[in-house]
Amino acid sequence: MFSDRTPAPPDAILGLTEAWKNDPNPSKVNLGVGVFKDEKGRTPILQSVKDAEAHILSTATTKSYMPIAGAPEYAQHVQEMILGAGHPALVAKRARTAHTPGGTAALRVGADFLKKFAPNASVWVSSPTWANHKGVFQSAGFAVKEYPYYDPLTKGLDFARMIESLANVPAGDIVLLHACCHNPTGVDLSAQQWQEVAAVASQRGWLPFLDFAYQGYGDGLAEDRTGLLALVDACPELLVASSFSKNFGLYQDRTGALTLIAADSASATASFSHVAIAIRVNYSNPPAHGGLIVSTILGDPARRVKWEGELAAMREHIARTRTTFVQALATHGVPGDFSFIARQKGMFSFSGLSDAQVKFLRDTKSIYIVGGGRINVAGITPSNLDYLCASIREALAIR
Ligand code: LMR
Repeated sequence: MFSDRTPAPPDAILGLTEAWKNDPNPSKVNLGVGVFKDEKGRTPILQSVKDAEAHILSTATTKSYMPIAGAPEYAQHVQEMILGAGHPALVAKRARTAHTPGGTAALRVGADFLKKFAPNASVWVSSPTWANHKGVFQSAGFAVKEYPYYDPLTKGLDFARMIESLANVPAGDIVLLHACCHNPTGVDLSAQQWQEVAAVASQRGWLPFLDFAYQGYGDGLAEDRTGLLALVDACPELLVASSFSKNFGLYQDRTGALTLIAADSASATASFSHVAIAIRVNYSNPPAHGGLIVSTILGDPARRVKWEGELAAMREHIARTRTTFVQALATHGVPGDFSFIARQKGMFSFSGLSDAQVKFLRDTKSIYIVGGGRINVAGITPSNLDYLCASIREALAIR
């Protein structure tokens, strides 16, 4: 069984971190995996998280199993975070939430659940999309198709082709949408464009599945809900995968959620019982720690205010870094207009670097960038900025 196997390729994103760790070059730069870094290149534990953990440690009384779908109070916090407290779908009890190990598990549980009821559906993802999206849905047995999204010429959204494609997605298919901070491009829809997508979803009858991994990293917790709210208004059913890796910095605690919104409360309860089965046969029930942190923070007004301040500081740091980067590229005489980098949202910038240029930067400069040219803007620090800009200038000479 195990002899003579060809090794699998390294993961397109997490594999880069491994390669970067093993690189002896002292100037090495990791702009690969999407983790927040401060100006010293550290990924600190948020103080609100540290405080919540201290509280949990001193008050916890058991390590017994969690419910299959996680704690009810966690579900409520997640629902209020993604939809806003008092949203009509919550009042009508149309939403159910499962605590999952990260956003990836939320996507996979959602995929397993959907496969049971829509075995012949296709899943549509944006072109491009997060490197793991196709794998997650293909592993659940789905055919994955693409809708146009990004226009490399304008470095912006190709909305005309996107909406035309979505208007032709068959009823009953599943369309994966990035709720905000599109990964990998950083290019988001306007409120008006979300309204149009929502109208098409409702007319066509395809199921929206939102990947909401960066809430609070775009324009703010409430502002980043715009797309989701438009879809919930227009569509009776949808799924949302949340991640608290980035906004709470809980990367290694694998803290996420799958929220199912159904047409009415009875349908939500019945459907969600199948989500529970998808979880039980996979990882049984969620790891508690990250969920306890989120509930401890969101359930306490003072802790919440502190966390929201830390989240805003991370968002503002990345926005400032974008501007600094654009200015530094100009100062270094890097040819081209890079102002689009300052317009993009969230952690990533689709830099426009070709795969050959990405390879040059890795092989000769020890600068690690995801294939396709996605840069983690948070990985740019005052100490690597000049090296990075000078190296990009060299790379751009390659065609
Ligand atoms: C990323 O896109 O870099 C993050 O979502 C981390 C991951 O799991 O790929």
